Amino acid sequence: MNNKPIGIFDSGIGGLSIWKEIITFLPNENTIYLADSNNAPYGQKSKQEIIDLCIKNTKLLLKNGCKIIVIACNTATTNAINYLRKNYDVPFIGIEPAIKPAALKTKTKKIGILATKGTLNSELFSKNVAKFTSDIKIIEQIGEGLVPLIETGKINSIALTVLLKNHLCNLVKKDIDYLVLGCSHYSFLIPQIQKIIGTKIKIIDSGEAVAKQTKVVLKKFNLINTKTKFGKHQLFSNLDESRIKDFIKNENYKINFLNF
Ligand code: DGL
Repeated sequence: MNNKPIGIFDSGIGGLSIWKEIITFLPNENTIYLADSNNAPYGQKSKQEIIDLCIKNTKLLLKNGCKIIVIACNTATTNAINYLRKNYDVPFIGIEPAIKPAALKTKTKKIGILATKGTLNSELFSKNVAKFTSDIKIIEQIGEGLVPLIETGKINSIALTVLLKNHLCNLVKKDIDYLVLGCSHYSFLIPQIQKIIGTKIKIIDSGEAVAKQTKVVLKKFNLINTKTKFGKHQLFSNLDESRIKDFIKNENYKINFLNF
């Protein structure tokens, strides 16, 4: 069981930011990454639609023998992780906006959060906000339109910069000192975001924390791979695998098209 892969999925290429953290932090683990790009963005879908897509992704990863599943998507985690944990007998690790660390650090008592509509409207997100931020103001911003541009490789386009500036200016005006990124796709925008918001506002992203948590959970269930020295990685996309290739340019992994 221990040399079985870690399964990772996202609505597309956003979760590759987390996959990279995982393979760096756990270099001897095998992984399978599913990019459900054909169904992106998840952020505009209903809770039930998101759950149904997560079921499909989970079944495919389990069919491929995954020992643990990392939901590398805030929208999928906040809408579907409780359902998945109840219905599948495998450990799940999710990613959620890092409200708690931001709440502990803020001096202005104002935190900005950039996430999808699906995440900001979820029950799990509201519960976390209520739990950690009684004396802190949270300024929410939907990152409308960003995921489709990232998915289609337009990260450095003028259209994306204009959109990003519009979304962020609202947050910057409100005297925030921390900006929480609540969507794994946005990690690819960190240099641009920092340029727009300036260095006084700190960005909090959850990728590294997810990789660390993955190790904790693997240890807890006695699932750490001690057999392999360098893990093997399989990446599947159901749309256009060249997009994944663009994001992992310097790395030599097997990428396949899979119609799931
Ligand atoms: N990467 C995802 C997230 O973390 C989903 C974005 C989307 O598909 O809307 O929320």
